[in-house]
Amino acid sequence: MKKVTSLLVLSFLVSLASCKAAKEIRNEQIEKKIESLISKMTLEEKIGQMNQISSYGNLEEMSRLIKKGEVGSILNEIDPVRVNALQRLAMEESRLGIPLLIARDVIHGFKTIMPIPLGQAATFNPQVVEQGARVAAIEASSVGIRWTFAPMIDISRDARWGRIAEGCGEDPYLTSLIGGAMIKGFQGNSLNEPTSILACAKHFVGYGAAEGGRDYNSTHITERELRNIYLPPFEYATKLGAATFMTSFNDNDGVPSSGNSFILKTVLRNEWGFDGFVVSDWASIKEMISHGFCQDDKEAAMKAVNAGVDMEMVSYTYVNNLKELIKENKVSEKTIDDAVRNILRIKFRLGLFDNPYINEKAPSAFYTPKNLAVAKEAATQSVILLKNDNNTLPIKSDVKTIAIIGPMADAPYEQMGTWTFDGEKAKTQTPLQALKQLYGNKVNFIYEPGLAYTRDKNSSNISKAVNIANNADIILAFVGEEAILSGEAHSLADLHLKGAQTELIEALAKTGKPLVTVVMAGRPLTIGKELKLSNSVLYSFHPGTMGGPAIADLLFGKSVPSGKTPVTFPKEVGQIPLYYNHNNTGRPATKHETLLENIPVEAGQTSLGCTSFYLDAGFDPLIPFGYGLSYTTFEYSDLKLSSKEYTAKDDINVNFTLKNTGKYEGTEVAQLYVRDNVGSVTRPVKELKRFTRVTLKPGESKNVSFTLPVSELAFWNIDMKKVVEPGDFTLWVGTNSENGITQSFIVKK
Ligand code: NOJ
Repeated sequence: MKKVTSLLVLSFLVSLASCKAAKEIRNEQIEKKIESLISKMTLEEKIGQMNQISSYGNLEEMSRLIKKGEVGSILNEIDPVRVNALQRLAMEESRLGIPLLIARDVIHGFKTIMPIPLGQAATFNPQVVEQGARVAAIEASSVGIRWTFAPMIDISRDARWGRIAEGCGEDPYLTSLIGGAMIKGFQGNSLNEPTSILACAKHFVGYGAAEGGRDYNSTHITERELRNIYLPPFEYATKLGAATFMTSFNDNDGVPSSGNSFILKTVLRNEWGFDGFVVSDWASIKEMISHGFCQDDKEAAMKAVNAGVDMEMVSYTYVNNLKELIKENKVSEKTIDDAVRNILRIKFRLGLFDNPYINEKAPSAFYTPKNLAVAKEAATQSVILLKNDNNTLPIKSDVKTIAIIGPMADAPYEQMGTWTFDGEKAKTQTPLQALKQLYGNKVNFIYEPGLAYTRDKNSSNISKAVNIANNADIILAFVGEEAILSGEAHSLADLHLKGAQTELIEALAKTGKPLVTVVMAGRPLTIGKELKLSNSVLYSFHPGTMGGPAIADLLFGKSVPSGKTPVTFPKEVGQIPLYYNHNNTGRPATKHETLLENIPVEAGQTSLGCTSFYLDAGFDPLIPFGYGLSYTTFEYSDLKLSSKEYTAKDDINVNFTLKNTGKYEGTEVAQLYVRDNVGSVTRPVKELKRFTRVTLKPGESKNVSFTLPVSELAFWNIDMKKVVEPGDFTLWVGTNSENGITQSFIVKK
C-alpha cells in the first residue's frame, strides 16, 4: 500500500514537473514570437496595441483604426457577428495581423447572474465562487469576450461607498481567497482554452478607502497600511497568474494610481514579478489633469506610461502624444516596447493568434441548467441569517397562509444588483415567483408589495399590506435597495432603508404576526430598528438570477443558511469606518460605557470614563464580521495547538471539535483568528487566518484541523520589512470574529 502511494506521488510529481517544463518551453516560444513581431512593428503600430477603444464609437472609424493596426483592444462589443467581423479586420486586413482583445465588465455573471461579489464573499466558499466565475467565462467567451474587468479586490471598510458591492468585503485574507477563486474560474485551467477569459485584478490600489466613502475620492493610506491591508489580495492575484491589472481612480497621498510608479513598478513588477499587462481605468490617465497632477493630455500620457500603465482605456492620450514624447526624449522607446511586450505576451498566452474567431453558430451557452444550478447554490450559500427568535424559520409545515410583502419580493431587475449589463430581468427568478412555483401547492400565498419600489415614500398602500398580513399565519417582508443604489458612483451618506420601508416594517410588526424580513441590498445597511421589529432576518445582498428559488428553499428549510458577514455592519453610519481588524488604541472601550440616555444631567467632565467609543452608538457594531446563524446550533470545544512554542519556520497545527447541537443538518463556517499581542508597530486585535465550511448532521461531531505556517504571521514592521516578530500570540477558533474559544502560543527568536 505504502509503495503504491509513493508511486502515485512520484508519478504526480513527474507529471507536475513535465507540465511545468512544457509551460516554460511554451513561454520561451512566446517570448521569441513577441520579439520577432516587435522587430517588425512601426511605432504607430506599437502605440496602437496600447490603445483600448470602446465599441460605442463610430463603426467606420473603428474599422479604419483597426486596419491601420492602431487598436489593441475593444471594450463593450458583445455581438458575436460583429466581434468576428472586427477581428477579421485585425487579422486579415491589418499589416501584421495582431488579434484584438475583446473586453467587457463581466463582474458577477454574464447572462446567468451570480450574487454580487459581496454576497459571494458571504459564502466563505472559494469553490462555489470559482464555479460561478467559470460559468461567467463560458457564457461570455461564447460571444467573443476574452477579457473581464474583475475581480474587484479593493478592501473596503466603508458601506457608504457604493462599490463595496463589487468587492469581497473588509478582510485581506477573505478577499484574497474569494478574489483568487474568481481569477481561477475566469482564467480556467489554461489561458489558451477557448472558454478562458483574462481576469483583471482591480483597482490598483486603495480605491476602497475613498475618503468619506464618496466615490473617486482621495485616499490617504500609509505605505505600511497599504502593504499590510490593501496589497495582499493583489499580491495573491499575481501568484495565481492574474493576467492583467487595472489602475484605480483615486490619488493616494497625492499621487493618482495611473501615475504611481511605486505601486506599478516597484511593487507590482519588481517585488512581485508580474509579467502581464496593466490597463488604466476608464479615462483615468486623462483624469490626472482634473486631479491637478498633470497640465495636459501630453503630460498625462508621459506620467502614465513612465509609471507603468501599458494600455490606456478610451482616452487617447497615448495615441495622440506618445510619438512626440519619444521624439522629445521624455519617453523612451524601450518603455513602449516593454508595454507592447506585456500586451502581446498575454494575447499569445490566450491563444488569440491561433484561434481569433468564435463559432457564431454554436448552441447557446446561456442559462443552461448547470449554470442556473451554480447560481442557485451560490445564492443559497450567500444568504446570512441575522436573527431567528423562537425558531421562526424555517416555516413550519402547519402554516397555511403566507403574506408576501415588500418592494423587493418581485423585483427581477433589482435583485440582479449592480454591474449587470447583460443579465435579463425576464430570466430572473424572484422570491414571489419561486415561492408560488415551489411551495404554492402546500401554502396559500397572498401578495401585496405595499410600496412600488424601495425609495417609494408613498405609504398609502401600506394599509393594504397590513390587511393581508392580518389574514396570514406568517409575514415575509422583502425590503432592501434597488440595484442603482449601489455600485460605481452610487455612494450614500445615509444607510437606513430608503422610502417608507421602515414604516412598512413597523406597520407589519404591529400586526403581531410572526415577521420574517428578507433584505436584498448592495451593502450592509443600518437596519437596527428592522432587526428589532422582526422575528427573523435573512440578509441576502443582491442574489442574482436564482435568488428567488434559493431564498424560497431557505425559508422552507429545504436548505439551511450558512452565509457569514464579509463586512462589519455598523449601527449608525457615523461609526464608519468600523472593522473587526482594528488596532486596540491606548484606551479601548470596556463595553460598559455610559451611553447617551444614561448620562446624568450636569455629569462631570471625566465621570463617564475616558475610552474610545461613541456616546450615542457605543463601541460595538450592529453585526460583527464573520457573523451568521443557522437553523441548527454549533459548539466548539477541545481547542489544541501542536505546541506552545514555535519558530518562524514551523507550522501551527490547530485542532478542535465542532459539534452540531441542534436539530437540523447544517454547515458552519469555522473561523480562525490570531492576534500578535505586541509588535514593533501596533497590530490588529484579531486577524482572520483560516476558515472552512463543515457540514454536520444533528448530534454529529467532527475534529477540525487547520495548518497555519508561522510565516503567515509576518507583517510590515517598523523597519518596513515583512517579518514574523517573536513574542506572544493569541489564537481563537469560533463562529464569528467576536465569539470563539482561545489558546495562546509563543514565537521564539
Ligand atoms: C470604470 C470602472 O471603475 C471599472 O471598474 C470598469 O471596469 C471600467 N469603468 C470599464 O467599464
